[in-house]
Amino acid sequence: MLIGVPKEIKSNENRVALLPVGASTLIQNGHKVVVETNAGAGSGFSDNDYKSVGAEIASTPQEIFANSEMVMKVKEPIDHEYEMIREGQIVFTYFHFAASKELTEGMMKNKCVAIAYETVQKADRSLPLLIPMSEVAGRMAPQEGAKYLEKVMGGRGILLGGVPGTGPAEVMVLGGGIVGTNAAKIAAGFGARVMILDSNLYRLRYLDDVMPKNVNTLMSNEYYIRENLHKADLVIGSVLIPGAKAPKLITKDMLKIMKEGSVVVDVSVDQGGCIETCHPTTHEKPTYVVDGVVHYCVANMPGAVPHTSTLALTNATLPYAVEIANKGFEKAIKTNPEIKLGLNVIDGKITYKGVAEAFNFEYHSVDSIIN
Ligand SMILES: NC(=O)c1ccc[n+]([C@@H]2O[C@H](COP(=O)([O-])OP(=O)(O)OC[C@H]3O[C@@H](n4cnc5c(N)ncnc54)[C@H](O)[C@@H]3O)[C@@H](O)[C@H]2O)c1
Repeated sequence: MLIGVPKEIKSNENRVALLPVGASTLIQNGHKVVVETNAGAGSGFSDNDYKSVGAEIASTPQEIFANSEMVMKVKEPIDHEYEMIREGQIVFTYFHFAASKELTEGMMKNKCVAIAYETVQKADRSLPLLIPMSEVAGRMAPQEGAKYLEKVMGGRGILLGGVPGTGPAEVMVLGGGIVGTNAAKIAAGFGARVMILDSNLYRLRYLDDVMPKNVNTLMSNEYYIRENLHKADLVIGSVLIPGAKAPKLITKDMLKIMKEGSVVVDVSVDQGGCIETCHPTTHEKPTYVVDGVVHYCVANMPGAVPHTSTLALTNATLPYAVEIANKGFEKAIKTNPEIKLGLNVIDGKITYKGVAEAFNFEYHSVDSIIN
């Protein structure tokens, strides 16, 4: 199969869908890989790195889209990419179709085979191609929080771990899933005193077992949040109710309980945020202040660390890409239920219920199309 990797064109997107080592794996499996010039540059990989493993370099995206049987990307197609995608061409990337009717209609119109990273799902319901980005954002959250707690950055001038003779900072983590667990682990590693709140008691039991001594677990309810909010120097928002907006666990009125110069990092801002005063920000202007509290609400945190994010993403996507390339998409979908769940649009038809429901479009089961 001919696999093409265009350079991402979304603003500030420096990740790339395939590493030189991934290109090498696909080539060893008998495939051909073409990478657009400079596609890997933002993540630290040169054209020569790709050439050295046998990949070809194309000078334009047109060459990639015109010839590839499978296009591997990171972000959803935008602008001129819509028209370049061809009928029957596999596009393997993050689509987040439910967030854009225009994108959904665009991919229906060009009749591509849209396999979405975000809906590839394992039997235990976990989302293997979303987890790596949650891990990155979770581990970044205390790092960003620590930065904005510095006085010159607008914070109250407190060091997360403190030093002997001073107390450490208090960190409250709302939601103990992938993001929250990673955030708590890193904050605890900095030496902060961490409380992690979740509404799932089983999850709290697990966290209590595996977390270090400076992490305490608490049931997530308004009482415990109010009780502890006045102590918190840093609050990290990381709740998720799948398919729904994040619950507002800290309301505007509760924000007043917090200390002047304390910081909130609402990672769940992409789902509306769990802190009422949060709205999405960008890496260019990541923070703003409400009631003396610094708000960091960047909706694509992993974009700040494209090297790590690219490695983490491609570690997870490569085995699926190899399987799709080796078997062809029809056989891969028939034999691997995880990939089958990734199929969202094919031949102009929507095969993912949530996407069809989002726009009131007709839903077609995968089995009615591929049998
Ligand atoms: N901003 C970014 O760059 C970025 C990057 C990655 C992920 N995210 C987002 O971070 C959020 C969390 O992702 P995740 O992978 O950790 O999800 P997850 O499903 O692994 O964890 C969510 C946790 O929230 C808990 N929860 C649900 N309701 C709660 C409540 N009322 N109180 C406390 N806990 C509650 C759940 O029990 C679960 O443990 C998502 O919205 C995700 O999209 C944002």
